[in-house]
This record gives sequence, C-alpha cells and structure tokens, in this order.
Amino acid sequence: MQKRLAVLASGTGSLLEAMIDEKLPIALVLIDRPCRAHGVAVEAGIKTMLLQRTFGSTFDRDAYTRQVTRVLHDENIDLVAMAGFMTVFAPCMFDEGGYAGRLINTHPSLLPAFKGAHAVRDALEYGVKVTGCTIHHATRNLDEGKIIAQEVVKVFSGDTIATLHERIKDVERRQYPWILRALISTN
Ligand code: GRF
Repeated sequence: MQKRLAVLASGTGSLLEAMIDEKLPIALVLIDRPCRAHGVAVEAGIKTMLLQRTFGSTFDRDAYTRQVTRVLHDENIDLVAMAGFMTVFAPCMFDEGGYAGRLINTHPSLLPAFKGAHAVRDALEYGVKVTGCTIHHATRNLDEGKIIAQEVVKVFSGDTIATLHERIKDVERRQYPWILRALISTN
C-alpha cells in the first residue's frame, strides 16, 4: 500500500508547491506558524493543521514535539517531509514509536558544511565558491542524518542571500519531489 506523506512547512511553501505540481499524494500539511505554505495547501485541497509554536523561554520543545507526533500518528502518517519547517524537534521525535528513519529534510547547503538556520548567509559570508542543497534523513542531531542526495550550486560574484537561496531552491524543487516519490513507493 502507498505510504501516507505529511509535509511540514513554515515559510513561503515553494517546495510544497513543487510537490503538489508533481502530484505527490500529500495527506497532511502541518505548519508551525501562519505562513504562505498554509494557503498553498488549502488551495490545493490538502488537509492542513496549524500547531502554533511559541517563541522565547516559555517554549516547551518536548511538549510541542509530542503534539506533532500525536497528530502524525492520528493521521496514520508513514513518511514526513520537512520543507522549510523552522522548528527543531526534541529527541523524543526519534524515540521508539517516533519517526526515526521516516523524517526527511532538505537543507540549503552541502552538509556537513553550514548547518543551522542561516546556511545560505553563512556560506556567502565564508566566501565559498560552490554551495548547494542536501536531502537527508533527520536525526536527533540537527542537520546530521544520512545523506540521500546532494547537488552543487555555484556562487556568483554579486550574489545576495536572496539570489543564491533562490537558485538553491530551484534545485530543491527539482530534486525533493522525486526523492519523496521514490521513498513513498518503496517498502
Ligand atoms: C528551503 O531552502 C529549505 O531547504 C529551507 O527553507 C527553504 C524552504 O523554502 N529549510 P520554501 O518555504 O518552500 O519556499
């Protein structure tokens, strides 16, 4: 039987749009804040859920992660794709009965270089001549899971964070949907 796919997003949702264009069977889109990705999912007729996170010292990462896993289990989700989801999960996401091995992420750098939330900025500031994207398994260590695919993107002189990130996202929009399709179809 085909696996049930959930997509987690926090941003503009252009990767989600690419998955929808590729007709991936997305059972659920979960967002952690109001964002454009929500509208993209609604427009496509996909079930959406907003699990609003809080910011600052009151944020209970464990409780939030448990809330997410509960929703994913309730929806019988087999495979989870993070597409610009900006909340880091607590380790319990990967505990027994969690989503270890079934949670995929795309990151806008050639891991293990430039981990974290500012990968494009950090690569530009470092002065690298090539960067790219990495599609990988998410683990309890941020941006460290087994790599599934990578592709190089050249840095041009005069690039800004926005121009470089957009070229990286072009690659992510091309690569991520077919990788997910392959993962959905395999046992
Ligand atoms: C992607 O570059 C992804 O790697 C990063 O956030 C971006 C998501 O873009 N974590 P969008 O919101 O889908 O346009």
